[in-house]
Amino acid sequence: MSDMASLTAPYRALVVGGTGGIGSAVLRRLRADPRCGEALSLSRRDGFDLLDEGSIAAAAERLGAPGELDLVFDATGALQIDGDKPEKALRQIDPDAMARQFAVNAIGPALLFKHFAPLLPRRRRSLFATLSARVGSIGDNALGGWISYRAAKAALNQIVRTAAVEIRRSRPDAVVAALHPGTVATALSEPFAADRDRLSPEDAAGRLLRVLDALPGQATGRFFAYDGRPIEW
Ligand SMILES: NC(=O)c1ccc[n+]([C@@H]2O[C@H](COP(=O)([O-])OP(=O)(O)OC[C@H]3O[C@@H](n4cnc5c(N)ncnc54)[C@H](OP(=O)(O)O)[C@@H]3O)[C@@H](O)[C@H]2O)c1
Repeated sequence: MSDMASLTAPYRALVVGGTGGIGSAVLRRLRADPRCGEALSLSRRDGFDLLDEGSIAAAAERLGAPGELDLVFDATGALQIDGDKPEKALRQIDPDAMARQFAVNAIGPALLFKHFAPLLPRRRRSLFATLSARVGSIGDNALGGWISYRAAKAALNQIVRTAAVEIRRSRPDAVVAALHPGTVATALSEPFAADRDRLSPEDAAGRLLRVLDALPGQATGRFFAYDGRPIEW
């Protein structure tokens, strides 16, 4: 059965960050789905960059008219940027490194909402998901550390919630969600979790798409893990 049975076939999907470990697995899965009419990818390889709003606006312009994207899956994000490792202590906070974390993990996805939400259909179910991380949950934070990444993902979660409230007004059948993919064997987690049990990107992609597909309209604006369980903010 199709992962995305809740979407009207043939559905049109966009994976932002289709070059990443999880993003490429999501893209492969969508392209293998017979009900998927088209699965497009945006990445830095094609001149698209979250740090360049013009490149995001140009991509939205190329992708077509309102009503033409049934699924937007944002699989971008970064834990280490320009070699800056996540902090273990407050004394390691560097304002420039923190600003770069916010630029990629929070402001970038906010710009995706700005430019791609208008392409969702007004009167048909659609899905807009962004990959957050459980460590971005404030309520779940008992360990500390990684303050810039955590804070940028917490900001992303608020952006998802705020976007969902606004999108619901013009697109009552759209579901917007922040997703935690689990610990997944990708380049991002390699330096920190190589010795831990990690999901394969294929497994994570399948689980995330199934969770997303199953979300009812009332679930819009919430945060879910790859096993379908809600995560507290
Ligand atoms: N892996 C895990 O265990 C794990 C756990 C929790 C949450 N997550 C989240 O899941 C998401 C995907 O992670 P991943 O493990 O698949 O990482 P990844 O393999 O490093 O992929 C990251 C993706 O983000 C893109 N990207 C980074 N900076 C960008 C920019 N400035 N403009 C455009 N694209 C940019 C990368 O593009 P390039 O190919 O051009 O570099 C790549 O496609 C991230 O948001 C991460 O925080 C992952």
